[in-house]
Amino acid sequence: MWLLGSLVLLAKLELIGCSSSCYVSIDGSPIMCSSCGGSCTAVSGCQCANQTSCLPENGTCGLNSPACCLPGFSWNPNIVCCVEGPYCSPQCLPDESCTLVNQIALCTLNSTIYQNQNLDLNNLTSFVTCNRGIMTVSVNKNLLEFLQYTPINATLSDPSCTGANVSIVNGKRVYSVTVPGRAGTCGNIMSKSTSQVTYTNTLVITKYSSIGILSTRKISAQFSCTYNLTMDVALSTVIKPVMSSQILATGGSGAEAITTIAAYDSSSYTQPIMQTNQEQLTIGSTLYFGMFTLFPDPVFVLRVETCYSTPTSDGSGSIKVMLIQGGCPTSDGPYIKVEENGQSKEVRFSVVMFAFSGYETVYIFCETRLCNTASSSCNGCLTSREDISGLETFSLGPFAYIDAVNSCSHIAFSVAVLLGSLLFSGFSETIRSL
Ligand SMILES: *[C@@H]1O[C@H](CO)[C@@H](O)[C@H](O)[C@H]1NC(C)=O
Ligand SMILES: *[C@@H]1O[C@H](CO)[C@@H](O)[C@H](O)[C@H]1NC(C)=O
Ligand SMILES: *[C@@H]1O[C@H](CO)[C@@H](O)[C@H](O)[C@H]1NC(C)=O
Ligand SMILES: *[C@@H]1O[C@H](CO)[C@@H](O)[C@H](O)[C@H]1NC(C)=O
Ligand SMILES: *[C@@H]1O[C@H](CO)[C@@H](O)[C@H](O)[C@H]1NC(C)=O
Ligand SMILES: *[C@@H]1O[C@H](CO)[C@@H](O)[C@H](O)[C@H]1NC(C)=O
Ligand SMILES: *[C@@H]1O[C@H](CO)[C@@H](O)[C@H](O)[C@H]1NC(C)=O
Repeated sequence: MWLLGSLVLLAKLELIGCSSSCYVSIDGSPIMCSSCGGSCTAVSGCQCANQTSCLPENGTCGLNSPACCLPGFSWNPNIVCCVEGPYCSPQCLPDESCTLVNQIALCTLNSTIYQNQNLDLNNLTSFVTCNRGIMTVSVNKNLLEFLQYTPINATLSDPSCTGANVSIVNGKRVYSVTVPGRAGTCGNIMSKSTSQVTYTNTLVITKYSSIGILSTRKISAQFSCTYNLTMDVALSTVIKPVMSSQILATGGSGAEAITTIAAYDSSSYTQPIMQTNQEQLTIGSTLYFGMFTLFPDPVFVLRVETCYSTPTSDGSGSIKVMLIQGGCPTSDGPYIKVEENGQSKEVRFSVVMFAFSGYETVYIFCETRLCNTASSSCNGCLTSREDISGLETFSLGPFAYIDAVNSCSHIAFSVAVLLGSLLFSGFSETIRSL
């Protein structure tokens, strides 16, 4: 009995193994490249010296691709040679068969498996995954193809958004289309509450027939992702927010510390200022600056050491107002307020906006770093700047004011007062209500 068992097993192995051994010609047919001075090139495949196609020996085709093989053979990358018939690697799924399509072995739908199951569109499942800022909708590729839809040509609400990607999810081959979760992209429809934002889009898949595309028979699968409205997510809710990103030093730790500063117009830090508005501010209004880092290591927090404001974009020059020093506001007045610093992955501070006399613009600069809570205190006010490394300077601007230049005398006067005081008597005493 044991013997019989192993014989059956051997027979099975041989059946499966028929595509898993290098093909060797029988009685010189097909011609092996070694017997005719052959070689393999990307342009013409494997050829004898006299340009007749030949079959490369096990391990001799450096192209390492189906281009190595004669029609009827496929490339087996595991044993690095041509095998007879189709060979698919990785293996096909249970509802597929491996077939040679234009000399390339592909996993294609085995429709026999679907034929007797009375499957229709009701059996189609689509699912959506909502990652940070990316929505991915996936549909079962093989069932769609069985139902004669062309998922590879799927589009989103905006028909110019295409680009399906094939992968295997939960044992099914799926087409996936990704769309950034952001306003104004690929026809996304946004709905926003005070705490969440939802993006909705539609996957459109066309049906085809032998006479061509029948555009009336489409699948439209609506999908949506809801995100909590954080400082970060809020930036996706407007077109062109005022923001700037850099990568902070992490002291050798793996992940990238992508860090962003952005300007918001309310204390919820969820209503970003748009670039179209940044030069139409009202003097005396409050701008809320939020910074956040995507660096995941929980030991690190984000800390702003220094922030200052200048009228020009280079940040140097003599006209400079310090807003934050040693991690804390430079004055106790209402003009600069640090709401959070060195406590989490976010920093929040607000500034009552002012202008410099003779200039239309204001820029904000902040020197920021990741702070290791295990080795130092990260949320206090430091008086000295010793031992501080890894600072990067972020800047935002220009900010400008409606009518700040051709303004009524009231504003012009206020601005002039501000500058004069700044130069001669120090910041904290000088900012007046504008
Ligand atoms: C090329 O050489 C092979 C064997 O060396 C021969 O079988 C084949 O007929 C030749 N082809 C031509 C076109 O001469
Ligand atoms: C390929 O050739 C090498 C030696 O030339 C041999 O050891 C190996 O078993 C061969 N592989 C296959 C799959 O035939
Ligand atoms: C397709 O599936 C059927 C049923 O499982 C099987 O009998 C047949 O061999 C498969 N066809 C191919 C080409 O693999
Ligand atoms: C396909 O959907 C129908 C209902 O629309 C259901 O009765 C049937 O069980 C489904 N078949 C499979 C294989 O899920
Ligand atoms: C699918 O899109 C490709 C280009 O992305 C195009 O060449 C092809 O004709 C389209 N097929 C169908 C059936 O629409
Ligand atoms: C395709 O999808 C897989 C799985 O979702 C993903 O890992 C891969 O990066 C995607 N590729 C492209 C080109 O989008
Ligand atoms: C979203 O916010 C709610 C309530 O604040 C919270 O319970 C939930 O964990 C948040 N979800 C995510 C993914 O952050």
